[in-house]
Amino acid sequence: MSNVNRFDVITIFPEYLAPLNLSLIGKAHSSGLIEIGIHDLRAQTTDVHGSVDDTPYGGGAGMVMSPEPWGKAIDAVAELAPDEIHELIVLTPAGEKLTQDLAQTLTKSKHLIFACGRYEGIDVRVSDYYATAKNFKVREVSIGDYVLGGGEVATLVIMEAIIRLLPGVIGNSASLDEESHTLTKDGDTLVEYPNYTKPKEWRGLEVPEILLSGNHGEIAKWRLEQALIRTNLRKESP
Ligand code: ADE
Repeated sequence: MSNVNRFDVITIFPEYLAPLNLSLIGKAHSSGLIEIGIHDLRAQTTDVHGSVDDTPYGGGAGMVMSPEPWGKAIDAVAELAPDEIHELIVLTPAGEKLTQDLAQTLTKSKHLIFACGRYEGIDVRVSDYYATAKNFKVREVSIGDYVLGGGEVATLVIMEAIIRLLPGVIGNSASLDEESHTLTKDGDTLVEYPNYTKPKEWRGLEVPEILLSGNHGEIAKWRLEQALIRTNLRKESP
């Protein structure tokens, strides 16, 4: 069994995933900390047009992605990590909402497969089939209550949220401990306290005195207060 996390993305727009070559994720990939595969769904089609969708049973607007190319593509990428449990993430605005807690949970998964639907989504039998298939788990995931043109951007968001949490990806892992939305010892999630750097005064705005005091106990108290104020403000806003 590999101890590297593997990420496979299935899409009709492989170029959409180009940002995965940049920054933290690009480095994690090129240094071998993670494996990433991007797969063109159309490679699994058999007709000359490379059709991946059809009209919905029951009528209605738009097109639905056909199950057969998806089944073939998912089976093929499962072969790339044959000893692992495959966690199939189906991107849909109807899915469970992405949170920091879910990102943390997904770091435990050794093989994540992202199914990027377009149009009116993927025939639901794809999720239903893999939900009971051997060595598969299925999650339908949404990144928020709005509708995107497809699952590609949502995949980028989710992968970034997961990958930055993996050991060795961020140089100073202590910076993960205090950031926004991380569960505290008391089981709350807070947004982060405000941060300041040099200069001490910028355009007439001063850094709070307490941060210059060197008193780490008082600084920790102030930061917690600020985090609580910001968290409450956020809850009050509609
Ligand atoms: N596909 C379209 N909209 C989406 C969303 N909000 N989250 C995940 N996948 C999507």
